[in-house]
Amino acid sequence: MYKIVAKQKLNHLVEKMVIHAPFVARKCMPGQFIILCVEEGDERIPLTIQDYDREKETVSIIYQIVGYSTQKLAQKEVGDTLAHFAGPLGVASVLHNSKRRVLGIGGGVGAAPLYPQIKELQAQGVSCDVILGGRDKDYVILQDEFKAVSNELFFATDDGSLGTKGFVTTVLNELLAKGRQYDEVIAIGPLPMMKAVVSVTKPLNIPTMVSMNPIMIDGTGMCGGCRVTVGGQTKFACVDGPDFDGFEVDFDEAMRRQSMYKKQEQHICNLKLG
Ligand code: FES
Repeated sequence: MYKIVAKQKLNHLVEKMVIHAPFVARKCMPGQFIILCVEEGDERIPLTIQDYDREKETVSIIYQIVGYSTQKLAQKEVGDTLAHFAGPLGVASVLHNSKRRVLGIGGGVGAAPLYPQIKELQAQGVSCDVILGGRDKDYVILQDEFKAVSNELFFATDDGSLGTKGFVTTVLNELLAKGRQYDEVIAIGPLPMMKAVVSVTKPLNIPTMVSMNPIMIDGTGMCGGCRVTVGGQTKFACVDGPDFDGFEVDFDEAMRRQSMYKKQEQHICNLKLG
């Protein structure tokens, strides 16, 4: 059993939990994820790791309350336990100081997995600018954390309540127009956002890594649920990713697959909570 040692509301839909999970905390690296079950027999929820503390043996996760299982997770409080917390899963992000200037782009809860990558790059002496986006200022999470690890921090919100009014690509285009040069872009967020970022960076040949978050079941490469097409080949996000070369990802297929079970997800929400 895995004890919840801290819990924080980041906005009315997004929460952070710190879990005592010694094995995961000892081994995990930026870019990896865990799969948790709230109670025995529950749906398995894959979540990327937002932070970890090897001394305290804790792992931080951030989740958006979108369905039955995340609503159930949100009902848990400090002192309660989770039945399963398996990981670290997936391939760690390739982060090294051969890159001199990196731009991180995080949309919504995509800021959570972006954070440990930028933190690690900054620790290695890489200069990192960051753009965080959300529908309004309340949806732009981890602002203080990113302030501490980024060279310059920019914001984009749909309603203009924080930073530039528009999308993260609005800011990206502005920075590039001003002559900013980046050796790599790391974009993590909703599929349409990552696709839009790649549509800017690909013609300019700025290497762009994205993190895929498809439907996952086992998380070990056995079920095929998380398959994505990358460079014309089938890859499994849970064992080959979740990071992939954004230039090679078939985003349209990924978006079709992501919406495949929307009806069933709504049905189970209504059935169990309604
Ligand atoms: Fe089953 Fe990746 S989650 S193969």
